[in-house]
Amino acid sequence: MDAPPLMLDAKTRAQLWHQLIDAIEAYATKLETGRVTPALDPVKLRAALSRFDFSAPVDAFEALDFLVEGLWKYQTHTPHPRYYGLFNPAPTTMGIAGDALVAAFNPQLAAWSHSPLAIEIEQHLVRAFGARFGYDPAQTDGTFASGGMEANHTAVLTALVRHFPEFSRRGLRALAAQPILYVSAEAHHSLLKAARICGLGTDAVHEIPVDSDLRMNPEILASRIAQDRGQGFAPFLVAATAGTTSAGAIDPLPALAEVAAREKLWLHVDAAWGGAAALVPELSPLLDGIEHADSITFDAHKWLSVPMGAGIYITRHTDVLNSTFSIAQTYMPREAAAFEVVDPFLHSIQWSRRAIGLKVFLSLAVAGWEGYAVAIRHMVAMGALLRAQLEASGWQVVNKTPLPLCCFIDQRHAQGGSADYLHAVAMNVVGSGKAWISTTRLAGSTPVLRACITNYRTTADDIEALIAALEEARRQLG
Ligand SMILES: Cc1ncc(COP(=O)(O)O)c(C=O)c1O
Repeated sequence: MDAPPLMLDAKTRAQLWHQLIDAIEAYATKLETGRVTPALDPVKLRAALSRFDFSAPVDAFEALDFLVEGLWKYQTHTPHPRYYGLFNPAPTTMGIAGDALVAAFNPQLAAWSHSPLAIEIEQHLVRAFGARFGYDPAQTDGTFASGGMEANHTAVLTALVRHFPEFSRRGLRALAAQPILYVSAEAHHSLLKAARICGLGTDAVHEIPVDSDLRMNPEILASRIAQDRGQGFAPFLVAATAGTTSAGAIDPLPALAEVAAREKLWLHVDAAWGGAAALVPELSPLLDGIEHADSITFDAHKWLSVPMGAGIYITRHTDVLNSTFSIAQTYMPREAAAFEVVDPFLHSIQWSRRAIGLKVFLSLAVAGWEGYAVAIRHMVAMGALLRAQLEASGWQVVNKTPLPLCCFIDQRHAQGGSADYLHAVAMNVVGSGKAWISTTRLAGSTPVLRACITNYRTTADDIEALIAALEEARRQLG
């Protein structure tokens, strides 16, 4: 009998796996010889795709080649060591292996009985990371998520449920007052989006101004809470950030924890990127106070370099996920209740979902905490080198952070701090294909160039290449 069309025959499969592995290895080893950025041309791209009208099957090798060549050509190469971007790393070898296994075994992470190993691995990791953040493993719960967005969304939901128990059943309309959550002016906008998705609306997010180091000001937070209560609002959540997206600032967690405790508000810490500091003994004091958080967002697909996406929501309230997500139904497997284990679909936003934690497990098992500490230390050193070289070349680094993220302006140009000039510099560098950097605004107003090191493969030569590309941009822009 012919193999069914969705499963290729054994000979073709054997060849295909070889070709696939060769393509993966070639990408891993030859990536840095090419451009970081593609030429952006949607017309050409759609023309290339138009040959796939799916009316006749395409040969498997031809289809695979099309995709491999296309990904090489039409992708900003975030794993490239000169991608100085948005917390997107080069994936770990073991992470790639883990994701391939997940695709092949396709574990279903809705019910415990269907994927006991994968689910126990995820729970084991949640407790292990919780312990790094100072939680008691016996009092730690959590869930893997698609990324920081979903983890932050989970935080807003759990805080709502904890603060307003009637919210679960009767929704926001049952509440006497408008719930309010607090973020700094530098917080990630996933929290705004979460407020919208939860039905709170973005006006429910009150932005607290930052100090000169771009950290949430606890005194202003306290007075804003008092003012909001006076106006009949119902504050319920303070969402601090440990490692802001634009500038790597770390909010003053001990002071914010004090305010949240005094005011009986849920404290969430979005440590999506900066949380990795907990893995390096000399950096972990930066996160002091995080142990007081009611919940934490940590993304393994950022600084832990596993393939996307791998968000983690961690909490020290072992009952809150169930009270937020548990739903009565009759058709799902029920063995979990007998074993007192977790059914993820009753414990998180998603229902059927892939095993997110296996790529994290393999990466951490093989590198160990120490392997990660070495990698993160290296990136921090590259950040310090970048800062020093920028300053030596007439760029002024304007953010203060021990994390490897530089925000800078041009001291040598009359327009060196203007948004237009900085945008032109970034576009020139990106257009050259030699590196990827971006622009942002600090505290919502000050324009800066931004270069972040989230890649364990970035070396001193790559830093030099970025400085050269910036110099060239400066020269061309006159
Ligand atoms: C601090 C912070 N929180 C949350 C997010 C959202 O994470 P994700 O893109 O994985 O959903 C990001 C993304 O960069 C971030 O920097």
